[in-house]
Amino acid sequence: MRKAVATPRYDVPVGTLEGRVTGLSGLSVSLSGLQDFTGIGDRISILGLDGRETDAEIVAFRNNTAIAMPFGALEGIGSGCRATFPLFEPEQRRLLAGGTLRVNDTWKGRVIDPMGRPLDGKGPLAPDGTPQKLHAPPPDAALRARLGPRIDMGVRTLNLFATCRQGQRLGLFAGSGVGKSTLMGMLARNTDCDVAVIALVGERGREVREFVEDDLGPEGLAKSVVVVATSDTSPLMRREAAYAAMAAAEHFRDQGLSVLLLMDSVTRFCHALREIGLSSGEPPATRGYPPSVFAELPRLLERAGPGPIAADGRAGQITAMFSVLVEGDDHNEPVADAVRGILDGHVVMERRIAESGRYPAINVLRSLSRTVPGCNSPEENALTREARACLATWEDMQDMVRLGAYRQGNDPKVDEAIRVAPAIEQVLRQSREEKATLASSFEALRTALSTSAPA
Ligand SMILES: Nc1ncnc2c1ncn2[C@@H]1O[C@H](COP(=O)(O)OP(=O)(O)OP(=O)(O)O)[C@@H](O)[C@H]1O
Ligand SMILES: [Mg+2]
Repeated sequence: MRKAVATPRYDVPVGTLEGRVTGLSGLSVSLSGLQDFTGIGDRISILGLDGRETDAEIVAFRNNTAIAMPFGALEGIGSGCRATFPLFEPEQRRLLAGGTLRVNDTWKGRVIDPMGRPLDGKGPLAPDGTPQKLHAPPPDAALRARLGPRIDMGVRTLNLFATCRQGQRLGLFAGSGVGKSTLMGMLARNTDCDVAVIALVGERGREVREFVEDDLGPEGLAKSVVVVATSDTSPLMRREAAYAAMAAAEHFRDQGLSVLLLMDSVTRFCHALREIGLSSGEPPATRGYPPSVFAELPRLLERAGPGPIAADGRAGQITAMFSVLVEGDDHNEPVADAVRGILDGHVVMERRIAESGRYPAINVLRSLSRTVPGCNSPEENALTREARACLATWEDMQDMVRLGAYRQGNDPKVDEAIRVAPAIEQVLRQSREEKATLASSFEALRTALSTSAPA
């Protein structure tokens, strides 16, 4: 008979410390009485004049006062309001620092907020599981597994031209309205993974239901955890959405599973960090972003990827896709730049392609996965190389060809591109309902390249 073992409760405080609100400015609250016992990242609770309790986080110390930012609205908080800080034993405190979430397997199929509260009206989540740290460090580099086998993403363009391995991290660079959400929905439904964790950071409220119901659908939702903080929530909530999603992904990774993490968008996560940094008194540096943004960003992104190797030699993997908003085609914007340097590949979606009606609007020539040569067979590498070369020639020459300025026979490479490019373009098209396996993707490309060859 199995003995019931109770999960130890780390989150029961041994006492409570009290402080007072001494001032409010912008998004932050100054507090007296807590400065000697709290540290950056500690969570406190403020009792508003209207009796509402608001959670807040210590973000700075100035002139012997602690500065906190609330997770909710500041309304109802005034000078003199009571703030409480739960006191823990040092060991408990270490475990709880920066906040924790009790993630468990019942989170699959649910839409939740960054505090682990349901947003889907399906009732409360079971409070089971060991506390998962929201701000956990990435696994130790020396103990981390290597990238896993090739992962089937179910999307032809990605399978062919940005082939990924389990544990790889990709950036998805796109402007607004070019099909990010649709692509993320397709990935969540079609990728060969055990669980998908999706973070929607700073989306408009209306889009969340649209994403869950239309892009994800019941089939996608069943194997997904969706963490949402809409644009109207406080910057702390938006930042926390990214961390909560990462903590959920780590929970499943630590069970040895293959997890797909989709984050839309890292840019809005950085906007939240910027608001937090500026209102805690940091100076703006690069295009208004304070330096802490570029210190914190790699700490988040590095957590995705292969997990630590377990005693049985196996390791879970977090394969991740982080979307980056590039407005007005400015791919050198500081967040895009920082993300590109950290990740193992990038996928670029372009408005020009979406406008021409080809979806997913991925520019193959500008997209790249750094692990490709090692994960495909030599024949597959040759196929994609040939297709890329044709597409590049076609891109250079299409205006000339359309204007009639090119005479057939002048250059065999151009002649081949003229024959083959339309067939490759056809392979790149994929409706949102269609699923394409790795094998069928390569088969389609093989056919496109050979049937179009001269008889
Ligand atoms: N695979 C596809 N097949 C057909 N149409 C598509 C496909 N992907 C995207 N679209 C079209 O593009 C439109 C915008 O897509 P989507 O909402 O996914 O873009 P987005 O980049 O998430 O936009 P936003 O920046 O507003 O969030 C969709 O309404 C749809 O008409
Ligand atoms: Mg969208």
